[in-house]
Amino acid sequence: ASASVMLQGAMACETDKMISSLRNPKEKKIGSWRFITGDYQGIPLIVAVTHAGVSYAAAATAVGIEHFNPAAVINQGTSGGHAPSMHTFDLVIGADSFDASAWISKIEKNDADWRHIRFYAVKDDYYLTDGYRISADANLLMVAKDMSKDYHKGNTAVGTIATSNNWNRQQERILFLNKEYGSLCEDMETHAVAQICRSYGVPFIGLRVLSNTELHDEKFNPEAGHACQEFALSVAKAYYEKY
Ligand code: 5AD
Repeated sequence: ASASVMLQGAMACETDKMISSLRNPKEKKIGSWRFITGDYQGIPLIVAVTHAGVSYAAAATAVGIEHFNPAAVINQGTSGGHAPSMHTFDLVIGADSFDASAWISKIEKNDADWRHIRFYAVKDDYYLTDGYRISADANLLMVAKDMSKDYHKGNTAVGTIATSNNWNRQQERILFLNKEYGSLCEDMETHAVAQICRSYGVPFIGLRVLSNTELHDEKFNPEAGHACQEFALSVAKAYYEKY
C-alpha cells in the first residue's frame, strides 16, 4: 500500500497490544479519540481508539479518514457469539455486516416477520445501493483468510457480523439473528465503520474474536481481545505488503 493502514479498537483490551507494538509511536488526539501512528515491523500503521458503540466508532472513522487518509481501515475487537458451533477465542472474519438495530416490525407480534429498514451507505448526494449488508473489501478478505491459517488460539469462520448497541443475552434472540440473518457474532462497531468506509470508498474489513457466548454460558474474557489484536496486526502487515 502507498499509505498507512488504520487499525481500530474500542477499548483498552482491544488496542493496548497494537499500541505497544508500534515503534516510534506518535499520538494525536482529535476530539476524544486517540490516534497513534508508528512503525510495525517496517510498515506504517495508525491505531485508533474509537470508544465503544456505533456513534463513536462512525465518528472516529470519519475523523480518522479525513486526517490520515489511510489505504485501508480494519475494525477489530471482541464480540458475542451467535453461531452455536463457536466458542470464546474463535475468530470471525467479517465477509459482511448489517445493522442489527434497524428493524421495521409487523403489526402482528412475530419476531421472524421483522425486516430491515435499509440504510445504505451515502456518497455525495446519492445512496449506494448494496442492500442492507455491506461486504468487506475483497483483497482484505483474501488476506485475512490467508493469515487465519496462522491463528491457533481457536477456530476461524468467515461470515456475517451483526452490529448494534445491544448486548443480547437471550438465547432465543441470538438464535433468531443467527438463523434469519446468518450472523456469526455481534458487536457494537463493525457495520457503523463499514458504512463510513463505503461512503468514502476506503477498503474495509471487520475482524472479531468471540470474547463471550451465551450459547455456551461463556462470560466476557478480555484476553480474547489480545488474540484479535495480534491477528489484526498480521492482516494489516500482509495487506500492506501485498497491495
Ligand atoms: N454484544 C455486543 N457487543 C459486544 N462486545 C463484546 N461482546 C459483545 C456482545 N456480546 C464489544 C462491543 C463493544 C464492547 C461492549 O464490547 O463491540 O465495543
